[in-house]
Amino acid sequence: MLIFKTASPEQTFDFGRQLAQWLKPGFVVCLQGDLGAGKTLLVQGIAAGLGIGDAVTSPTFTILNVYPAEPPVYHFDLYRLEQAEELFDIGFYEYIDAGGIAVIEWPDKFTAELPDEFLWLELKPGDSTTERLIVAKAEGLKYQSVCEELKNIAGSCFRYGYPCV
Ligand SMILES: Nc1ncnc2c1ncn2[C@@H]1O[C@H](COP(=O)(O)OP(=O)(O)OP(=O)(O)O)[C@@H](O)[C@H]1O
Ligand SMILES: [Mg+2]
Repeated sequence: MLIFKTASPEQTFDFGRQLAQWLKPGFVVCLQGDLGAGKTLLVQGIAAGLGIGDAVTSPTFTILNVYPAEPPVYHFDLYRLEQAEELFDIGFYEYIDAGGIAVIEWPDKFTAELPDEFLWLELKPGDSTTERLIVAKAEGLKYQSVCEELKNIAGSCFRYGYPCV
């Protein structure tokens, strides 16, 4: 487990932007956190890091946004879904296996439906309204490698503590 602290929306965006360099086709990033925690902002950072630009909006109502890129990004927001069958209807399982990068907001609503391996990022409130803690956990070797890389990002500006367990 790794814990980061960001002091501003910009730093959370930048965390995502830097994380993107270690995301490969087929990777899955789960983003847990309450309403307004900063999940979509972090996805915007990931997208920027992948060269996607500023087309990234919250898929709260659409459930899924697909950003064409190489690899494509599948941005899910499961907040409004109630049943696992709805995941089937939106092609969730196919997208997960389609070779793009999947980022999933509200993954904790459907933990049983997630793949076996993923990077799990939890965004929590910090000491002030503009601070967030980002807790990173890896399920699977390739995501443990990402965690190892994350230790080195961004110098000390938002490193809070580790080690990775
Ligand atoms: N350190 C921070 N990191 C991220 N967001 C922050 C931070 N400080 C303040 N904010 C603000 O919190 C809000 C985060 O909004 P965002 O849409 O990313 O949340 P979300 O987790 O996706 O919420 P939802 O569950 O509704 O989709 C933004 O308005 C942002 O400016
Ligand atoms: Mg969101």
